Amino acid sequence: MFGLYGRPIVRSLKSAGFKTFTWLMPEGERYKSFSILEKAVGFLSESRFERNDLVLALGGGVVGDLAGFGAAIYLRGIPVIQVPTTLLAQIDSSVGGKTGINLPAGKNLVGAFHQPTAVFIDTETLMSLPSRELVSGFCEMVKQSLIAGESLFEKTVKCLREVSKTKDFLLSTEFEELIAANCAFKASIVANDEREATNRSDVKSRRILNFGHTTAHALEAITNYRTFRHGEAVGYGMLVAGELSRNLGLLASQDLQSLRTAVALCGPLPRADHLDVNQIIRALQHDKKSVGGQINWVLLERVGLPKIVDGGLISARTLRLSLRAGLQRRPRQTEGGH
Ligand SMILES: NC(=O)c1ccc[n+]([C@@H]2O[C@H](COP(=O)([O-])OP(=O)(O)OC[C@H]3O[C@@H](n4cnc5c(N)ncnc54)[C@H](O)[C@@H]3O)[C@@H](O)[C@H]2O)c1
Ligand SMILES: [Zn+2]
Repeated sequence: MFGLYGRPIVRSLKSAGFKTFTWLMPEGERYKSFSILEKAVGFLSESRFERNDLVLALGGGVVGDLAGFGAAIYLRGIPVIQVPTTLLAQIDSSVGGKTGINLPAGKNLVGAFHQPTAVFIDTETLMSLPSRELVSGFCEMVKQSLIAGESLFEKTVKCLREVSKTKDFLLSTEFEELIAANCAFKASIVANDEREATNRSDVKSRRILNFGHTTAHALEAITNYRTFRHGEAVGYGMLVAGELSRNLGLLASQDLQSLRTAVALCGPLPRADHLDVNQIIRALQHDKKSVGGQINWVLLERVGLPKIVDGGLISARTLRLSLRAGLQRRPRQTEGGH
């Protein structure tokens, strides 16, 4: 990754008169840890970073979260610029100011809010992204558009159709505008509820960004984070949330069909129909986003109209049925456990 994009950036910063120090972290979610964070801030200290120096986080969400958290705590906070190179990081993790690391007990359990000074996105980086990382980013895009509204949803579906014809569409102005629209939407939600107030449940609260994430976190946890890329799990999470919404009489069948079509356009998802529904339900109870031990589902009334629903109001039977329907095998699936 650094070989692809790091060197040209360092060269151009140097030629613009900046002094640069490079630190590389190992690749992978498991390195979003305390011990790597310690190395990162240790490097800042050894390199004598001062309060008016800045961190430039080049990479996917793992790098952005760890480097952002390092910048948040070093000298009680120095600026960070995010330069996300995965689709997921470009439309989601680089915007909004959440930074952090994982604990053995769970993901993102330690962190800080630290808004980036700037986010620079070059869509050309998407061309070197492995296809599953793209699928993962597409799923998060669909999620964002489903809660944002008809206009973004339609644009997203149109772009996904174009990408399925030719990957070069990722370099088009239209796709660039779609990324910008996603960032603008996320920023509009965050500006309104920066710290994700637990007492808010309106359509503009940050909690609505968790659409599809309740089931996704459970799927990731029961498979030890090995089977699904995060966005792939969100793909299933949206299908389950869609089924639940329809089964509770909130969402029309036709809208559920649009949701299914949009998820299918993201690309193949690893299979999930062999997973144990009881185990998923147990994992759901441990969701980090629960408040007072209660799961709060983000469901949909229609595209652009999310609704936060108290899990206590959903019967065990409806939950089970919705999970089975959402996780069933569909065309274009790959075998799980890559
Ligand atoms: N802070 C937030 O608000 C927020 C939101 C969503 C997700 N996240 C976090 O983001 C992380 C996931 O981020 P991710 O999906 O970007 O995964 P990632 O950072 O692990 O990147 C995925 C893989 O792609 C490689 N890669 C990155 N850019 C590339 C490129 N242009 N070409 C080729 N390979 C490239 C990486 O080295 C890595 O192997 C998780 O830790 C999640 O918790 C944070
Ligand atoms: Zn997500």
